[in-house]
Amino acid sequence: MSKSRRQILAGLGVAGVTGAIYTQKTASADVQIPVAAEPTKVEPQARFANKVVLITGATSGIGKETAKNFAQQGAKVFFCGRRENLGKQVEQEIRAAGGEATYMRADVRKAEEVKAFVDACVAKYGRLDIAFNNAGIDYPPQPIANTKVEEFDDLMSTNARGVFLGMKYEIPYMQKAGGGAIINMASIGGDRAFPNIIGYGASKAAVIHMTKMAAQEYGQTIRINAILPGAIDTPMLDRVKRDWKVTEEQLIAPYPMKRVGKPEEVTKLVMWLADDEASYVSGGEFSVDGGGLG
Ligand SMILES: NC(=O)c1ccc[n+]([C@@H]2O[C@H](COP(=O)([O-])OP(=O)(O)OC[C@H]3O[C@@H](n4cnc5c(N)ncnc54)[C@H](OP(=O)(O)O)[C@@H]3O)[C@@H](O)[C@H]2O)c1
Repeated sequence: MSKSRRQILAGLGVAGVTGAIYTQKTASADVQIPVAAEPTKVEPQARFANKVVLITGATSGIGKETAKNFAQQGAKVFFCGRRENLGKQVEQEIRAAGGEATYMRADVRKAEEVKAFVDACVAKYGRLDIAFNNAGIDYPPQPIANTKVEEFDDLMSTNARGVFLGMKYEIPYMQKAGGGAIINMASIGGDRAFPNIIGYGASKAAVIHMTKMAAQEYGQTIRINAILPGAIDTPMLDRVKRDWKVTEEQLIAPYPMKRVGKPEEVTKLVMWLADDEASYVSGGEFSVDGGGLG
């Protein structure tokens, strides 16, 4: 593939598929459509070559998908999660595909573990360019009066405090290096007032506000943005369907696109925000939710 063609595909967020271009017949003409292929070896001119990317919560779901895609695009990926078996598995998958990744067990609720995780990333790979503070949990829905205090605290401590701790220890390294990009995982639930998820909604609203505050404080050197996914097809969504006793059809009914999102559709937004292409973008909240809820 020529360099200019690869650059165009990179801009479209499909460069990770290593030139899988096929001709497809349509009624009007022959058109070339990029088709996703199996994960392949890192491209020599990869989009994130020599970048170091830290991800919290990449043992499954969106974090895992994002780790794989950054590695495929040449980044060195350092990631955490509490389930060691899954962490090692993701690390091996990435290495087997020719990428570079290291898993370290860390619980984002624990300041000393988050600090040790961020320090270990820089010790291993020498720098920190991009951080995706993604780790998060949910609990079955309950009205406020029935919500257990421990569950509320766990949600705030994982989803909000975990993001604060991530930024607290990532920012000094990025400042010292003179730049960096942070993407914080919020949710449509941090923007819209859904009933019966007080802890989840409050924690994600806190992420959006902390992101804007951080962008004000560090905007001269670091770009910091929040993303707000809608319903994305991950293990968390499986739990939501089970706990809310809803079918996928019921879940997606209010969304204009009438389907759940794929993890890779979130990953593409994360990668764009991490990329120099988003060089003037900071302090923003970005929806990836099939049209949202109006
Ligand atoms: N799926 C959706 O529809 C949706 C929509 C909006 C926002 N989100 C957000 O997207 C993020 C990823 O969720 P997902 O949908 O990909 O679900 P998921 O598959 O359950 O992933 C959650 C990730 O967070 C990690 N995690 C949870 N608690 C942690 C802790 N204390 N310390 C370290 N890691 C922890 C989990 O790893 P371990 O369990 O191994 O620790 C896992 O890797 C979450 O913040 C979620 O709120 C998801």
